Order: sequence, then C-alpha cells, then structure tokens
Amino acid sequence: MNRKKFITKLSLGSGAIALAPVLSGCDLEEITVFDEFTLPLQFPNLIEDANFSITATNQEYKIGNEFQVSGFQFNRSYPAPTIKSRKGNAINVQFNNEIGQDSVIHWHGLVVPPEMDGHPRNVISSGSYNYQFMINQRAGTYWYHPHPHRLTGEQVYKGLAGFFIVEDDEEASLNLPEDEFEIPLLIQDRRISSSGEIIYNPSMPEQMMTGFLGDQILINGVPTPYHNVKKGTYRLRILNGSNARIYNIAFQNETPFTVIGSDGGLLPKAVDVNSLLLAPGERSDILVDFSRFSVKTASLQSLTFELPSGGGMMNGMGNMMGSGGHEQGSGFSLMEFRIADENIDTSFTLPYRLSESTFPDLNDAETTRRISLNMQMMQGHTINGKQFEMDRVDQQVKQGSTEIWEFVNESNTPHPMHIHAVQFKVIERTGNRGLTAAETGWKDTVLVMPGETVKAIMKFDAPKGVYVFHCHNLEHEDSGMMANFEII
Ligand code: C2O
Ligand code: CU
Ligand code: CU
Repeated sequence: MNRKKFITKLSLGSGAIALAPVLSGCDLEEITVFDEFTLPLQFPNLIEDANFSITATNQEYKIGNEFQVSGFQFNRSYPAPTIKSRKGNAINVQFNNEIGQDSVIHWHGLVVPPEMDGHPRNVISSGSYNYQFMINQRAGTYWYHPHPHRLTGEQVYKGLAGFFIVEDDEEASLNLPEDEFEIPLLIQDRRISSSGEIIYNPSMPEQMMTGFLGDQILINGVPTPYHNVKKGTYRLRILNGSNARIYNIAFQNETPFTVIGSDGGLLPKAVDVNSLLLAPGERSDILVDFSRFSVKTASLQSLTFELPSGGGMMNGMGNMMGSGGHEQGSGFSLMEFRIADENIDTSFTLPYRLSESTFPDLNDAETTRRISLNMQMMQGHTINGKQFEMDRVDQQVKQGSTEIWEFVNESNTPHPMHIHAVQFKVIERTGNRGLTAAETGWKDTVLVMPGETVKAIMKFDAPKGVYVFHCHNLEHEDSGMMANFEII
C-alpha cells in the first residue's frame, strides 16, 4: 500500500540572495520517491476534433493513486489530452484560463501566425482566447504548453503539457505500428514532498545553473511505471517535457533501437543507436523490437552522461542544493516493459528512405547570426548579453530568407535552444559529440553543451510578425534567457 520511501535532503530557501552564504540557508526537506515498476503506465485522453476547447484549471489531482496534489490541469487531466490532427486541417481551439495566473498556449513545433503562437505578450489573466490556424506541416510529434513570461516553468511543472500529433499521407504510407503498438511517453521529473505536494521552489543556484531537477520520474504522469508488451515492434513517441533534466535514453543492456523521427517528423533514413540524449523540449520517435530482448522485463533507462567542462563549483552547488537524488547526468530507471511470451507479426520492414525532405541549401544562406549564450553574475542567463524584454525586437529576419544561426555556449550549463515558427536542420557541432541520430532530421530544439557551438540552417516561411526563441530549460527561460525575433 505504502509505495513511498523518504529521502531527507537539503533544499535551499528561495530567500537566498548571494552564493557564498547559501549553505546556511539550507533547510531540511523530506521528499517522496515511489518504488519502481509497481504502477501501470497510463495514456492521455485523445482529442481528434478540429474544433475543441482547452480549459486550464487550478485543482487537485492524483499522482500514483496515492497522493492528492494541488496543481494545474488542461481539461481536468494530467498529462493534458493528446491532440491528434492531420496536415491540411484547420484547427479552432477555445482556450479558457481558470488557473488564476496569466497564461497563454504555445504549440511547440507548429508553424502558426504570430498571434496564434503563444507569444508571452498575448497572455490572458482569465476568460478565453481563440486560436485558429492551419496545419501546414509534416507529420510529427509536437506538443503544447503555456508560455507566460516568468511563469512557464511553474505552469508546465504543475501539470500543463500535452502531445500534439500531426499525421500525413507520407507517414501513413509507411504503415508504422499503431494502436496498442504506438506508445506516447511524456517524461517529466518531479519533486514531491513527504506530504504529497508538488514542490516547485527553484532556488537561486537552480535558476542560475542547473534548473529545477526532480527526484521522481513520471511517465505520462505515473511514477516509474511498467507496461505489458508482446514480442514485436513498437513505436514510441518520446517527449522530454521536463523543465531542466536531460535524459540519455537507452534500454536495459543497451539493446539497440531505431530512431525514425525527431522534433519535426520522420528522418530521411532510420538510424540504429544504443542510446540517445534528449533535452527538455525535444522529441524522439523510435522503433523498438521486443523480440530482440532475451529478458522478460526490460527497463527503459537514462544512462549517465558527461557534462562537458563540468559546470564547476556553481553547478555542483546547484545540484547539491537542489536535487538530493539524481544530479544532472546521473543514471536511473524511467520505466519497465514486461515482455509477454507472445509473438506478434514482426514482418515489419522499413523502407531505406523514410521520407523525402529538402533541407535548406547552404548556398542559399544569406546571413549567419551569432547567438551567444552567457551567464552574467548580476543578470543571470542572457542571450547576446541581454535578458528578455517583452517589447524589444532582438533580431529581424526577412520572410522567405535562409539563414544560419550559430549558438555559442559561453556559459557552463547546457542550453537546449528552441526557435519558434521554424523547423531547422543542425549542420555542425564543435567538440567531440558530433551530431546525434535525431539531428539528421528536422529540429526545433537543439542541445548546446557548455563550450559547444552548434550551427543550424533554416528558412523563414512563417507569417510576418514577432516570435520568440529561448532556452527550453524553463528556469533559464523564466529568468530571462529568451529573445524576440521579427519576420519582416
Ligand atoms: Cu516549448 Cu517557446 O516553447
Ligand atoms: Cu515552441
Ligand atoms: Cu539554458
């Protein structure tokens, strides 16, 4: 019955203002971690209509059948319902804001007009906002979440995030695994108090360095669950909906799996890997064949990984004061697959070319923009030395033009950089990581580790107007690591 154990750990009161005396500001805090693999995986509800409403409420809901937590929900469910639509559809959503804070919805990865994109200046404090847009893009695993300035982290953390799945004819022609063989996995880490409350109180080192890391992994809202599968090929759509945590996704014994899609849909060709880094905001579409496993249970894990240049003392402090359990880069289980002794038809074959994509041509790039990512003692995270200002336009790009954006991480924390209103192709990463399997396809969020420079090429075809780009570590974003760009 009692599935939890308690860890007593240090947590930092949010009142601390300087780094040197922080240690004396630490309080003891008891947190809950559930026993692993005791609860079944659950799935979000589906919305398949083109006309619907999304109501955000401030309310209690259950985590792990046990705790009644107070948080936020979209349409009274956590995770939020999965919206499923098709390329060419016109979407009409009425958003009702009943949470008692400013909010606005952003359709992450979708290219929609500026006033439909969830720019933080379009927040509503209550009442409704009507979103209308066409789905003009490739099939893929997109998502939606709030985007009010300085409140995004809290609202996503307390429950507001869901999948937005787009289908099209090209993808349908592949006959990929569907129904019970297609599994959405929303991965989020949470800190839950011993009394069962969701804790969201980022301390200064957390804002400044690591972001807010939790000790309890929730998959589709369920603490480290299990799921029953058969011996055959499954499609997993994985979304890292965590505020700050990067996962190094792998199966037990590093059994290989096949990456078929990234943020912006199918890759040109499938790529077999043993593990895959997935930063906040990123998605990965993978195929896994459970008949290749010799074990009866196979856990999905996050393997340890190295944080280049370490992050030094401040990162160490952020980690120590923040997460008493899993530090950024440590290894742990996400969930478990229980493999039944039943074979299903695995005559499934992937074509050599998964999709036709014409990526922007290097020769067409008119401009290279350098976007430097810094941390300044008095300001915190900055982009090109500046913090976000609602009405300042930081970059102007010409509609229809092709550009190269060069993200230069001059700080000592990882930054998953996300650009609204465009899908891009990563063309280069300095250092020894190279490009990942997912980076052979379309991306809207890319991980830039400390010391790295990542170049991406993109063509701006979205409607004219002002959009944002930002770090998708939500504590970084909320503390100002965001900028406006205008398509003119
Ligand atoms: Cu998913 Cu501007 O964010
Ligand atoms: Cu976005
Ligand atoms: Cu960041």
